[in-house]
Amino acid sequence: MTSVTSLFSPVESDLDLMTQNLKGLIGARHPILSAAAEHLFGAGGKRLRPAIVLLLSRATLIDQEITAKHRRLAEITEMIHTASLVHDDVVDEASLRRGVPTVHSSFGNRIAVLAGDFLFAQASWYLANLDNLRVVKLLSQVIMDLAEGEIQQGLNRFDTSLSLEAYIDKSYFKTASLMANSAKAAGVLSDVPEAIIEQLYDYGRHLGLAFQIVDDILDFTSSDDVLGKPACSDLRSGNLTAPVLYAMAEHPFLTTLIEREFSEANDFKQAIDLVHSSHGIAQSRELAANHAREAAVCLEHLPPSAARQALQELTSYVLRRIA
Ligand code: IPE
Ligand code: IPE
Ligand code: MG
Ligand code: MG
Repeated sequence: MTSVTSLFSPVESDLDLMTQNLKGLIGARHPILSAAAEHLFGAGGKRLRPAIVLLLSRATLIDQEITAKHRRLAEITEMIHTASLVHDDVVDEASLRRGVPTVHSSFGNRIAVLAGDFLFAQASWYLANLDNLRVVKLLSQVIMDLAEGEIQQGLNRFDTSLSLEAYIDKSYFKTASLMANSAKAAGVLSDVPEAIIEQLYDYGRHLGLAFQIVDDILDFTSSDDVLGKPACSDLRSGNLTAPVLYAMAEHPFLTTLIEREFSEANDFKQAIDLVHSSHGIAQSRELAANHAREAAVCLEHLPPSAARQALQELTSYVLRRIA
């Protein structure tokens, strides 16, 4: 299997520089908050979002070196993503992230909430310093969308009337918005034509949706060790994702189990078994594959380059990934 790192080879040194810079950017004014943030930057994140920004920067600037602003955009993107994970883990009460204990389980909820806010605030400051109002608006929208996605998810727990459309909307807010808007922002910084900028946005949106659907499948099919985060946790907390939404249509009893919030002995195990015995996982794969295909089409108008090739391969990597 191609590892995500080998796909990123056209921007590998850019990514190393980014990780180094990220640690510098969070500063040392609040040692405990810096420690909490560094704890995650130092752990094994895939760095997918900054890789997309850097690859798109290279793919849109053929024969030109990428600028300091493109690099800063990649750093801001990873900072926003990491902040969202710190808060997501508090909300989900998750114990493990990137193979290490979550910030709240090492440092406590109070520090985790402050560390997440601190990262969002730092990201906003560096964003404003790009001095590009259009990019500021795109990434500020992402921060609003992340909050919107968490709120929608929090309010819809155990709601078996949730539609697939509502699930996709929530996934856009939680995951695809960051990929879509940061891809678009890379195009804005490269000053490419508007039609291309919109295709970059669509690439990020489709790739992000495919990525989240696969993440939701992996929650059912993988393990804590492989994922570096707790598996089998979405359904338990009432977060109804694509495999469950499809499975409910096939097995009405699954709906009953969810509606009584697994209050009787064996309910949860039965629910998991029903998801596995349905076509829900296969149908979710199909849904993710459709979005991955759509993402690939969005790259067709970029000039051929190693970076474009990697972005293309990324669309099939998201379907094959195991963590
Ligand atoms: C986790 O994202 C959150 C989701 C959108 C599913 P990643 O799987 O990219 O997390 P890291 O950055 O590699 O830890
Ligand atoms: C995506 O959703 C996380 C964020 C955008 C914060 P998940 O809740 O599925 O992410 P994991 O599974 O905890 O990584
Ligand atoms: Mg989560
Ligand atoms: Mg998940």
